[in-house]
Amino acid sequence: MPSRAPGPGDLEPIERAGASDLAALQLERMRWTLAHAYRNVPHYKRAFDAAGVKPDRLRSLADLAKFPFTTKDDLRANYPFGMFAVPRTEVARVHASSGTTGKPTVVGYTAKDIDTWATVMARSIRAAGGRAGDIVHVAYGYGLFTGGLGAHYGAEKLGATVIPMSGGQTEKQVQLIADFKPDIIMVTPSYMLAIAEEMERQGLDPKACSLSIGIFGAEPWTPAMRQAIEAKLSIDAIDIYGLSEVMGPGVAQECIETKDGLTVWEDHFYPEIVDPATGAVLPDGEKGELVFTSLTKEAMPVIRYRTRDLTRLLPPTARSMRRIEKITGRSDDMMIIRGVNVFPTQVEELILRHPELVPQYQIEITRPGSLDEMAVLVERAPDAGSADGDRAGASLQHLVKSLIGVSCEVRVVGPGGVERSVGKAKRVVDKRPR
Ligand code: DLL
Repeated sequence: MPSRAPGPGDLEPIERAGASDLAALQLERMRWTLAHAYRNVPHYKRAFDAAGVKPDRLRSLADLAKFPFTTKDDLRANYPFGMFAVPRTEVARVHASSGTTGKPTVVGYTAKDIDTWATVMARSIRAAGGRAGDIVHVAYGYGLFTGGLGAHYGAEKLGATVIPMSGGQTEKQVQLIADFKPDIIMVTPSYMLAIAEEMERQGLDPKACSLSIGIFGAEPWTPAMRQAIEAKLSIDAIDIYGLSEVMGPGVAQECIETKDGLTVWEDHFYPEIVDPATGAVLPDGEKGELVFTSLTKEAMPVIRYRTRDLTRLLPPTARSMRRIEKITGRSDDMMIIRGVNVFPTQVEELILRHPELVPQYQIEITRPGSLDEMAVLVERAPDAGSADGDRAGASLQHLVKSLIGVSCEVRVVGPGGVERSVGKAKRVVDKRPR
């Protein structure tokens, strides 16, 4: 198969710029962003004043550490439009992400922001191996969620033909893939598996479908999941990262030629890694919480936004910008079971060591007495017998105990026994009394 990696001539100049040129651009844009936020958003004026910092205190990129963090609570406290830095009439679009509790988090874009977003998304799709003329099937949800429209505008900007399918209607997804023969699919990795299963149910071989690239994100997924998807569909599975508060998808993107973590589009989003407990900035290479400052956003600049995503910053490889290591968990997803920290992705990795099991799983936490209990509900592969499934379940239970360090009950159910989601998978069901 010919290489789908873009050639040097296909890249924007900034993707190949030297470190000092990039830093100079970042500093100029950061100065603008801090002044813009301070001048136009009452929250930032209050927060900077309380911390005793003024935008003109920023002399170097490292000075950013003097400025206060922004959290999801700040966004909620200013619901719905209080974080906007431009008059409402200049806001071309809003998106919102629904939290598990209370009001959604609202974000806004000017027409120029939408164009910037489309540009970084086009860059992302190109980094994943996409090019003008490709057919791109978008199965991220359209609507308030940023996935669908973000992917859509980027693919159009790249010059692709877009199929705006959105999430859901799994049978129809399969029909359109069979009939329209897309080159690329953009979808959550968990829903990709559900679509592949539906292909098999219809008697189609997922490997024989037209797809050659999947651009997967919006939820944590492990390297083992990548291998499973690549093997099942015979495609390159590439990681895409983003969050609505910072822009949407397209904040960081893995490159097809290296598949070694995600390049942060640092000319638009400035990353820091901080100690989640103390907020101290950590050096590159150390693991902590990812924090972003937008550098070009007009409608809703964000200053040192705490993502809660855990990762580390790595040196540049395929592009001139730094990378983040694949994100396998958020601090919110971390379960503390009898004192042991557990991420769902750790369980996913162990499930994928068993060919008799498929990575359709849910973790249930209960507290029948005074102690927390964890149960893993996982499905047996369609071609595995129930005795094989049970044996794999016993092995999984043993591995969770010996490698993660918690006792759990593994319940192996038949194919289809774990509920499918059409977007982000819900991996943890917390049934503990509040
Ligand atoms: O999920 C934006 C997006 C859409 C990204 C489509 C990629 C593809 P939110 O709904 O605001 O936005 O959720 C953002 O999802 O803070 C991470 O915890 C998680 N997340 C997103 N991408 C990845 C990824 C979109 N590639 C939150 N790996 C983020 C792991 C991811 N987690």
